[in-house]
Amino acid sequence: MTNTQYSPVTLLGLGAMGQAMAAALVKAGVPTTVWNRSAGKAGELVAAGAVEAATVAEAVRDAGVVIAVLLDHASVHETLDPVAGELAGKQLINLTSTAPEESRELARWAAGHGIEFADGGIMAIPPMIGGEGSAILYSGTRAVVEAHREVLELFGTAEFLGEDAGLAALLDFALLTSMYAMFTGYFQAAALAGTAGISATEFGERAAAWLTAMAAGMPEYGKKIDSGDYSADVQHLAFQKAAVDAMVRAHRDAGVSTEVIGTVQQLINRQVEAGHGAAAFERTIEELR
Ligand SMILES: NC(=O)c1ccc[n+]([C@@H]2O[C@H](COP(=O)([O-])OP(=O)(O)OC[C@H]3O[C@@H](n4cnc5c(N)ncnc54)[C@H](OP(=O)(O)O)[C@@H]3O)[C@@H](O)[C@H]2O)c1
Repeated sequence: MTNTQYSPVTLLGLGAMGQAMAAALVKAGVPTTVWNRSAGKAGELVAAGAVEAATVAEAVRDAGVVIAVLLDHASVHETLDPVAGELAGKQLINLTSTAPEESRELARWAAGHGIEFADGGIMAIPPMIGGEGSAILYSGTRAVVEAHREVLELFGTAEFLGEDAGLAALLDFALLTSMYAMFTGYFQAAALAGTAGISATEFGERAAAWLTAMAAGMPEYGKKIDSGDYSADVQHLAFQKAAVDAMVRAHRDAGVSTEVIGTVQQLINRQVEAGHGAAAFERTIEELR
């Protein structure tokens, strides 16, 4: 049964993420209209109380807010450009993963058509939606997020970051970058551990515990970076260079690619060659800025 305290929500895109979000809406009784490019994905949602629209125009017609959960920036334009007129005066939230500049472009496109716009970055995977630990970052027009906060909180914690429509995507991608680099580091390390017969599962358990303990130090690293004072009493870059050089030799000796740890080695080497061997490891960020 729908709950009249909620204004109607239209959700465009019923991939894994869109399905999970639409399910959270109907479960809470939000009047929900769904649309998907390919037919056949709305069956369970319709059985649970959603309305399936045959066209995007039909889907957005009576919406209080339109939420797009499509593949990429191009698919958002492909879906929304033809209905820009129908969207005028409405509120649109894009939860499709787009690069920050693409989110800003969507904000300009929306403003040009009289559409109130906010962008979001989903910090969850579909099974987490509506559960503990699910969070979505938002930026753009604050009023859009605040007007629908109760509905948005059905997906996960809703955090508004600021009026720059690209900000949510920027932080989303920054967090994802740290995650991709961490997992790729695990792949590199598991390849090395595997040469001694240690399974990736067993190594994964050890690595998870080790990285969890080490990650707690990140805010301290951040303080040093923010201070700009890279002085170090111990474990300076020359010390790190010796350790990482040995790690690279360990991979070579074991016949494993050095591509991931080799990139770390190059960054440290460049800092040492530039005369910063006595500085703290955190100074490596200067190679990336
Ligand atoms: N899954 C995750 O863990 C996760 C986590 C965070 C963020 N996200 C983001 O959430 C968004 C959706 O992810 P997902 O997991 O639902 O992906 P997905 O399962 O691959 O679904 C993609 C959706 O986009 C639609 N689509 C693709 N190209 C289109 C086009 N040109 N025009 C209209 N619709 C189009 C697909 O429609 P069809 O069914 O017709 O192909 C489908 O509904 C992505 O931007 C993703 O990066 C996902």
